[in-house]
Amino acid sequence: MIRSVIQGCGSYLPPQLVTNDDLAKKVDTTDEWIQARTGIRERHIAGEGELASGLALEAARKALAQAGIDPTTDLDLIVLATTTPDDTFPATATTLQAALGMTQGSAFDVQAVCSGFIYAMTVADSLLRTGQAQTALVVGAEVFSRILDWEDRGTCVLFGDGAGAVVLKAEEGAGTTSDRGVLATRLHSDGRMREALYVDGGPGRTGTVGHVRMQGKEVFRHAVVNMAKVVEEVVAEAGISLADIDWLVPHQANKRILDSTAKKLGIDPAKVVITVDQHANTSAASVPLALDVAVQDGRIKRGDLVLMEAMGGGFTWGACLVRW
Ligand code: ACO
Repeated sequence: MIRSVIQGCGSYLPPQLVTNDDLAKKVDTTDEWIQARTGIRERHIAGEGELASGLALEAARKALAQAGIDPTTDLDLIVLATTTPDDTFPATATTLQAALGMTQGSAFDVQAVCSGFIYAMTVADSLLRTGQAQTALVVGAEVFSRILDWEDRGTCVLFGDGAGAVVLKAEEGAGTTSDRGVLATRLHSDGRMREALYVDGGPGRTGTVGHVRMQGKEVFRHAVVNMAKVVEEVVAEAGISLADIDWLVPHQANKRILDSTAKKLGIDPAKVVITVDQHANTSAASVPLALDVAVQDGRIKRGDLVLMEAMGGGFTWGACLVRW
């Protein structure tokens, strides 16, 4: 049985650091309010001219170097998750493809907002397992700051910019849960929940990119329920127990959502990777950014069972179980 095995990962944050106190100079908020409600202390914000493709390129180079993969010869698929592409088209993935000097294979974007990386992993895993590609670069990259209403204190304090990437390679596995690689994935969406989290513009509707609009409490309530449920589904599908999980790498939206989800699942908080304090919510980039932090600091080791999960606008949500 073919398994999509992670060979390397990398991440990148734009250099400009914005603290809660910096934001308090622009909107009516305080460091105390933001930390108490969200756990966020600071975030990185892209400067002028820094685009999703540029952040993606930096993260991709690190992941490819760690994997020992030459993109000009060895890579045949790029799946890039973003809500803030450089342009309406072409896909940011093809811009990345050109920047990497890759002329073979295919590259495309997926759009599932904060769940984007889980969707991208699922798509890449499916293409590798059906033999349509051998080596894939999966990226989450966002300049979410570009679609924020910087006068709306209810949303602008929550988000940040960044990118993360992994390299997946098709390898023969035994078909057991001891295999390295992606063991199970599960995706969901419910388009009826549009009004809870959306952008009030787009190429078709307004000819603009719009700004993020959100009913915070509604999102919070659904996030905990949906993410806990999809984690249970993916674990059951793989045939393992939640107690076997070494690391939970959740979408980093809000520390209170992370704590409530871990509590609902009965997962030891020490097994939950948390970066929301430093990165805020970077949408599709948040899971691979957190993953890379825990790999580089030595927490996630070869053979560990790693469970990633996310929820975002749509609503979309999903989970991906990987043996590192
Ligand atoms: N600073 C100070 N006060 C604020 C701020 C701010 N930045 N933002 C809102 N307030 C005020 C409100 O105006 C309100 O004041 P009022 O009582 O005088 O009307 C008060 O704080 C309480 O506002 P609520 O919205 O009720 O606060 P709540 O406790 O729900 O926290 C929050 C808001 C943090 C947005 C929370 O609902 C939340 O985290 N929801 C999840 C949203 C999320 O994570 N979205 C990310 C995208 S989706 C995803 O990634 C899963």
